Amino acid sequence: MGSYVGVFGMGVMGQSLALNIANHGYAVSVYNRHDEATKDFMAGRVRTDQQRQLVTPTYDLEGFVQSLDRPRKVILMVKAGPVVDAVTDSLLPYLEKGDIVIDAGNTFYQDTERRMEAYAQKGINFFGMGVSGGEKGALEGPSIMPSGDRALYDNYLGKLLTDISAHTADGAPCCDYIGKGGSGHYVKMVHNGIEYGDIQIIDEAYFIMKNLLKMSNAQMADVFETWNKGRLDSFLIDITYKILREKDDLTEDDLIDHILDESGQKGTGMWTAQEGLEMHVAIPTMAEAVFARNLSAVKGERVAASLVFADKPVVSIEDRDAFLVDLEQAVYASKIMSYAQGFQLLDKASRQHDWGLKLGDIALLWREGCIIRAKFLGRIKSAYDEGDVVNLMMTDEFRDEIKAAVPGWRRVVVKALEGGVYAPTLANSLMYFDGYTSEKLAANMCQAQRDWFGAHTYHRDDRPHEESFHHQWEQF
Ligand code: 6PG
Repeated sequence: MGSYVGVFGMGVMGQSLALNIANHGYAVSVYNRHDEATKDFMAGRVRTDQQRQLVTPTYDLEGFVQSLDRPRKVILMVKAGPVVDAVTDSLLPYLEKGDIVIDAGNTFYQDTERRMEAYAQKGINFFGMGVSGGEKGALEGPSIMPSGDRALYDNYLGKLLTDISAHTADGAPCCDYIGKGGSGHYVKMVHNGIEYGDIQIIDEAYFIMKNLLKMSNAQMADVFETWNKGRLDSFLIDITYKILREKDDLTEDDLIDHILDESGQKGTGMWTAQEGLEMHVAIPTMAEAVFARNLSAVKGERVAASLVFADKPVVSIEDRDAFLVDLEQAVYASKIMSYAQGFQLLDKASRQHDWGLKLGDIALLWREGCIIRAKFLGRIKSAYDEGDVVNLMMTDEFRDEIKAAVPGWRRVVVKALEGGVYAPTLANSLMYFDGYTSEKLAANMCQAQRDWFGAHTYHRDDRPHEESFHHQWEQF
């Protein structure tokens, strides 16, 4: 008997996933292009008797593939991009018809679909698999979003992947078959777009507390900790208050005050924003979160501009406690808007690609294990259990809470605007809410303008929508 599965790539994530697999009683072979990483892994992290028995190190590709039970199942834990093609190609001489290669990276879904087609011609079954949860998740149970051939998933992958995934308190696995094609990576991409939104919303709350309320790190930590005991209970709020309490190891100060305000990104948030544009779905909260990172990255330009436009208005807030209540409302309502947008994008993509995504179940997959894990995801699942959802803000689950949040949310955004404090996701989530809940918008004027300068035609409110009209505007 060989190993049930192979893990290709012994970075920290690959190592952690291999241990997770062994900890669940599956024999796993591991391989890395450079032997050192495999040797270090075996010497440093493979510790228990069960792990030593079940993890097989291999040092050449042929040996790696031959150590696996048929059909071979190889999980690629490598950087997304051309490396995935290079690695899969290097495995081809040793793989046989019917073997399964699973890309567990943050790959763009169209690349996954291209690979599925290309490798199918060579008899290899290619799967895309979104995995979230970082190193700890990979070791202790990530959220897993696999897509590809349903029958192969049921026969060879489903049990393994659900076993190693995170589980909710009532025992539901945070892994389920997502659909065909690149749907798994698509869902992971939207997860990351939402992750960007969640992060930016929280960061704006921090920034408002710091700049408008002039609160200390310790005071802000207490606020986030309190929020984390309520409806905002989530991994990202949890780490935020802990970050605020972290001491620097180079100075006597709090670490957060020495971390440069320039954030990086690897592209998944940007892809989500691009998809929103491609699919004609309004997802301003997530898009603004990407723009916020872009703006943060031009630190030098910002410093120069801050000297030219030096004076930020001073805003006074009389009742700090009341404002903090408003701020929690603003954060919560913006979060609902962000998820409402993300799920609308998933819904449209699902219909367009015929993926049949089960949106409530996807919310449950994110309930534990992943970066956006939160109590709130259980509420989204309940909203989908109520019946058809057009927009989460309209569901029984969220409607009344949003109504209650709106006045405080507006007060927060107004204060941020008055004080010149950058809060794009709180503000644009509110703009989204105001746009989505407006029976009338200014688009009648837009249609008239387009018809004037380009004869693009317009629809009328007193004629069937199928009919288009063109008006003879003033002649040039
Ligand atoms: C996850 C994360 C993970 C990674 C992000 C970070 O779900 O485990 O999303 O995939 O942390 O890709 O992305 P940025 O570097 O773009 O913030």
